[in-house]
Amino acid sequence: MADEQNDSKTEAKQSFFAKQKLIESARTAFQSLTAVLKSVTLYPEEHPVLLAAADKFLEKIEELLLDRKEAAFYLIGGELFFETLSVPIDKNLSLIMEQFAARDIGGIVFKQGIASAEIIRFAGMISKESAFSAGEEDLNMLLAGEGIIHIMLHRALLVDKQAGAAIKEGKKRASDIFKETIEALKEIVQAVHSGKASSMRKVNSVIQIMVDNVLDDRDALMGLTNIKMYDEYTFAHSVNTSILSVSLGSYLSLDKPQIAILGVAALMHDIGKVTIPGEIINKPGKLTDEEWKYVERHPIDGALLLSNVRGVSKLAMVAAFEHHQHGEKGYPEVEGKYKRHPFSQIVSLADSYEAITSSRVYYSNRISPDAAIRILLKNKGITCAPVLLQAFINMIGIFPIGTLLKLDTGEVGLVMHQTRDLMRPRVLILNKFDGSEKETGEVVSLVETMGGNYKRSISGTIDPNIAKIDMKKYFD
Ligand SMILES: [Fe+2]
Ligand SMILES: [Fe+2]
Repeated sequence: MADEQNDSKTEAKQSFFAKQKLIESARTAFQSLTAVLKSVTLYPEEHPVLLAAADKFLEKIEELLLDRKEAAFYLIGGELFFETLSVPIDKNLSLIMEQFAARDIGGIVFKQGIASAEIIRFAGMISKESAFSAGEEDLNMLLAGEGIIHIMLHRALLVDKQAGAAIKEGKKRASDIFKETIEALKEIVQAVHSGKASSMRKVNSVIQIMVDNVLDDRDALMGLTNIKMYDEYTFAHSVNTSILSVSLGSYLSLDKPQIAILGVAALMHDIGKVTIPGEIINKPGKLTDEEWKYVERHPIDGALLLSNVRGVSKLAMVAAFEHHQHGEKGYPEVEGKYKRHPFSQIVSLADSYEAITSSRVYYSNRISPDAAIRILLKNKGITCAPVLLQAFINMIGIFPIGTLLKLDTGEVGLVMHQTRDLMRPRVLILNKFDGSEKETGEVVSLVETMGGNYKRSISGTIDPNIAKIDMKKYFD
């Protein structure tokens, strides 16, 4: 444990460039491992090509072992990590990832003292169809039986068996990710509700996909959060909160595994609501004191329920417990001075923003995104630390992606991206309102000037429900 703490401190001190260099070394090491695994299926044990491949890998892994006792690779949700760093992989590496995933292997650790012969023996073992099949528990006993003591294997925690295939397929559509996340959440909620054992496997793997997508292109998924799906409100609220939290995590440059934990925590934050009777959840008016008591319990119930779910991070319990602990009306009450975990604060912030913009139950009408930002600003320092709120606003803009704008030119613009000027985003000019502008339309920046004056400025926002514009078409 102390070792782990020291490791993470050292990592924090690493400069950006040192980190990039380490990622590159890890990538080449893993790539040369692939070469060994390929060669072992093509050449006999003593063949010079195989020996050369093993030597090359040994050289690369020894480089990594210069300043660490062991070099650990993890395969999570189709992604490769070296320690906690995400390592970019290409299609060539997806084959080996598939091989490991099919055997339910989620981690490979190489230790100091490893020799070329061990590498070749290991490659020989893993190349066999039946090796390390998913049912066999003690992988390391098997390795030791073959005299391999400097390589250790871990079973997959979050392995997504289709990982390799997903990389080949390329990017998923934002709307598919949204739907899959809703499905995964529904399964967990149903299991928890009926007291059945539930596993986080599916949730973890959809969150990995969400994180990838957000890291790749934050705007597409964020645009979706602005479309409120009333039919699925309870679930959509949690998915939106998760997308917003993950987006803020990536905006704040958290490490990828951390962002994934944050995403899961946000998705689960309201799970304690399964114990609140439906009439109370959907009651449009004010709650009685008695009814409110039920609502107030959901952070505690949530944390308790999550403690029974296999594979969930402790931070998800913390965030569920703390997500309403702000301001005078915060609950549940805790004694003494109490500082909430930053992840709880991020979830709180995303949760509040989502609830305000949806404003289905707690407010009588829908509040526009820019008005929601003003409400959050009024509560500055209460929902979360001011610095987090500032980052959130910088990320989301005063006019978030998906906001419909009235422009002073008489045009209607749909916000697609933010610019450095939060009052002047980039917008898609709409004139047909049937979604067709998405393919052919003109995207303009409100920063553009002509003769020293802005070409276009915002004169107001339009409620898409009142204007009867189907926003889904623009963010599908
Ligand atoms: Fe809540
Ligand atoms: Fe919530």
